[in-house]
Formats: sequence, C-alpha cells, structure tokens
Amino acid sequence: MPNEVEVGPVADLTPGTVQGAGRYAVGNADGELFAVTRRCRHLYADLADGSIDEAGCLTCPWHGSKYDVHTGRMVLGPQGIFAKIPGLGLAFKALTLVVPLGRGRVVERDGTLYVE
Ligand code: FES
Repeated sequence: MPNEVEVGPVADLTPGTVQGAGRYAVGNADGELFAVTRRCRHLYADLADGSIDEAGCLTCPWHGSKYDVHTGRMVLGPQGIFAKIPGLGLAFKALTLVVPLGRGRVVERDGTLYVE
C-alpha cells in the first residue's frame, strides 16, 4: 500500500516496547498500539529509543519528557537540568498544544504491522 511503512511482526511489539518505523516511533502502551512522529520536540531525540511509563505515556530517552500518545502533546517537560529552567516545561507543553507530534495509524495484516 502506498504511504505505508512496515513495522514488523505483531508478536515483536509486546506491551511496553517502542520501535522505529520510518519517521514514526511505534509502540504498545498496555496493549494499545500507537504511532507518533519520532523526533522529540525538545532537542530532537529519537523517541523510538524511548520507553512507556506506567500511565502509558511515551518517555523521551534523553531528558525524560513525556508525551500523551493519543494527542501527541507533551504532558511533562524536559527533566534533569532542564527542569530547573523556569517556564521551560510550560513552554514546551504549550508548543505541543499547537504543534503536537504527528500521529500515524497502526494496522495489522497477516501478522505484520504497518503504519500509515
Ligand atoms: S530531547 Fe527529548 S526531552 Fe530533551
């Protein structure tokens, strides 16, 4: 199918895992499959190397920002040294109200996942 990227076998995307497929980070948040564009809005870390927290949010591997995978919006700003910068987290959260991560649709055909 055009405009579709193969992710891999459905069995490989177990709950709590994230992997890259083209421009997307594709993950399984407690059984719910999602695809969001893979560059963090902070300093462009690859979100395909991130993790999924207990609330089902995608966590950036570099500075711990968290994203709602349904909306693409940042729900927690950059952590560590960046958390000490007044207003930085709020600014990035506001940015993703306007420019959230892009979202793709994950589909399964014959045991293989694709994102479109
Ligand atoms: S690059 Fe993602 S939080 Fe900094």
